[in-house]
Amino acid sequence: MCGIFAYLNFHANKERRYILEVLFNGLRRLEYRGYDSAGIAIDDSLSRHPNQKCPSSSPPLVFRQAGNIESLVNSVNEEVTNIDLNLDEVFYFHAGIAHTRWATHGEPAPRNSHPQSSGPGDDFLVVHNGVITNYEVLKETLVRHGFTFESDTDTEVIPKLAKFVFDKANEEGNASLGEQTVSFCEVVFEVMRHLEGAYALIFKSWHYPNELIACKRGSPLLLGVKELNEDKNKNHVFKDAHFLSKNEHPKEFFLSSDPHALVEHTKKVLVIEDGEVVHLKDGGVSILKFENERGRRNGLSRPASVERALSVLEMEVEQINKGKYDHYMQKEIHEQPESLTTTMRGRLIRGGSRKPKTVLLGGLKDHLKTIRRSRRIVFIGCGTSYNAALASRPILEELSGIPVSMEIASDLWDRQGPIYREDTAVFVSQSGETADTLLALDYARDNGALCVGITNTVGSSIARKTHCGVHINAGAEIGVASTKAYTSQIVVMVMVALAIGSDTISSQTRREAIIDGLLDLPNKVREVLKLDEEMKDLAQLLIDEQSLLVFGRGYNYATALEGALKVKEVSLMHSEGILAGEMKHGPLALVDENLPIAVIATRDACFSKQQSVIQQLHARKGRLIVMCSKGDAASVSSSGSCRAIEVPQVEDCLQPVVNIVPLQLLAYHLTVLRGHNVDQPRNLAKSVTTQ
Ligand code: UD1
Ligand code: BG6
Repeated sequence: MCGIFAYLNFHANKERRYILEVLFNGLRRLEYRGYDSAGIAIDDSLSRHPNQKCPSSSPPLVFRQAGNIESLVNSVNEEVTNIDLNLDEVFYFHAGIAHTRWATHGEPAPRNSHPQSSGPGDDFLVVHNGVITNYEVLKETLVRHGFTFESDTDTEVIPKLAKFVFDKANEEGNASLGEQTVSFCEVVFEVMRHLEGAYALIFKSWHYPNELIACKRGSPLLLGVKELNEDKNKNHVFKDAHFLSKNEHPKEFFLSSDPHALVEHTKKVLVIEDGEVVHLKDGGVSILKFENERGRRNGLSRPASVERALSVLEMEVEQINKGKYDHYMQKEIHEQPESLTTTMRGRLIRGGSRKPKTVLLGGLKDHLKTIRRSRRIVFIGCGTSYNAALASRPILEELSGIPVSMEIASDLWDRQGPIYREDTAVFVSQSGETADTLLALDYARDNGALCVGITNTVGSSIARKTHCGVHINAGAEIGVASTKAYTSQIVVMVMVALAIGSDTISSQTRREAIIDGLLDLPNKVREVLKLDEEMKDLAQLLIDEQSLLVFGRGYNYATALEGALKVKEVSLMHSEGILAGEMKHGPLALVDENLPIAVIATRDACFSKQQSVIQQLHARKGRLIVMCSKGDAASVSSSGSCRAIEVPQVEDCLQPVVNIVPLQLLAYHLTVLRGHNVDQPRNLAKSVTTQ
């Protein structure tokens, strides 16, 4: 989805070349989210010295391009040569903004890319993540006031509205040149009052040189602060409204919709809250906010200063690099033994001679009693996160004795399905920012349910809006196709089931066996990763196929859905996960000697039923690939020829973690062999922040 990045250097000499590189690099860090065009805005020469105030400021330079970041870089380089722009020119301070766009309103094209402009002269420029739902009404009004629109975007109303507000205030205020009667913040507040929908925005204007304004409602936005020459021993907790008060110390500020673009510059961040307006000016940061939504809309109340503290990003630069791997997806598949270890770290208590093994989830412990009393647990998520929840449903039902229902977030919202105060609604989301899941969360909160989050992103909207939850701590996941987050989500949900069921004596032996299984799981995943070459060979065999069916049931129905999702999203081969129990109710019609079918038949309560499925498929000359437990290859092939993939056997509820790995590897190799982009599959985004 769209990505925002901005860089402001204050009292720090930076060459234009450096500023451009910081902006481009910021965009590269956002690439993984998915995008189809990009753009930046930097200052022209005249506003480069501190003594040169508004009168000498001039319109910025705006570059926009469809395609990838490198197309933007090339077009900027060409333009730099054409207009003879000096890349060595040094800026004492400078505010640059950048954007990657994922087309929603209007095709990918330079005119639809961001920054969007207020019109000729580029008085106001805006980069936007989200959707403005009332843009048509705003556009009509602005057209009536003489504005001409150039793009098909919803975003364009924002800079134009800013110009309208600015011009009106200055007409009324009789401003003399360079003395604005309205502050940048006031302009933005007035604009925000008229916007409906979800947004994260950054405003740049040459009327307010070297200032930036960031604000948000719904979509994520972070501020990173780097004080140059800072005292390393200084305690960095800033608690007043101007938490970084104006001073002459050299600093760099970074704004981004994503921590990945910040971590290489600084770990000191502020997660901007909904409704806040963050103003970067003269080396200081001020935060203002309307007291409530009504205040925002009616314009009667004035925004007030807000106290905030910086937090520290728990992320390492290595996490956002590929290391020895060719692709992020490959790296993330192979690091699962480590990511699972981190997910479980400090949460499994090994017990002692008298004490049972148990689970400690700090984020849930105070809520377990309420959850146990709930009438129903509802899992809500999208895509891979939904599949992870589905994989965990049986063990949660078994250990809690509470009915567990499954909801795809958009469907729950579309139906306005019943959610009650007696429900526990569990929101599963890697990013913690998925728009459909967030809407469902607001809905469940409004209906009084206890809302629990399972997310990978500390500080994400879902982590903040839920009453409690568990971070999966899988580390940054950059490949669009979710892999390590999926296995960590399952492990967390199994731990949630163990924690909820921990007051039941009768299931203690079962729980302890699962805990032993969890402790050994990273080793088992390490073992299954050795199938890499075998899965590459299989991918070679399947390279020209049109379709792949995946049959699973019980715990591994989710594996079938998730395996098929992986194959289709990255290798662009049609693939469908099918509940094996439904085979005779339609899918059997597709079976012939050509269509490849993967059947998951590892040992669990459904094993004998899956054997019967295999026999029936053999009887119809199905072209089978069977995933079975170690030592079962001969028996699964006894009724007909098939390719067997043997995987280590683990506790039934943990088997989906092991079983998905060969399918992740298959999807990866198929994609590379078919020549597609593994990390940024066509048309897909990592974090789907619009409905
Ligand atoms: C927490 C700390 C961890 C520390 C550990 C030591 C954080 C983020 N985690 O981990 O660094 O090592 O204590 O005891 O500071 N939450 C939600 N919704 C969500 C996810 C989480 O509300 O979707 C809440 C939880 O209820 C909890 C907090 O966020 O209050 C942190 O959750 P989590 O990181 O899972 O807690 P711990 O594992 O205890
Ligand atoms: C997108 C991603 O579709 O959103 C998937 O490409 C992901 O990988 C899905 O499963 C849900 O995202 P999240 O962040 O809510 O888990």
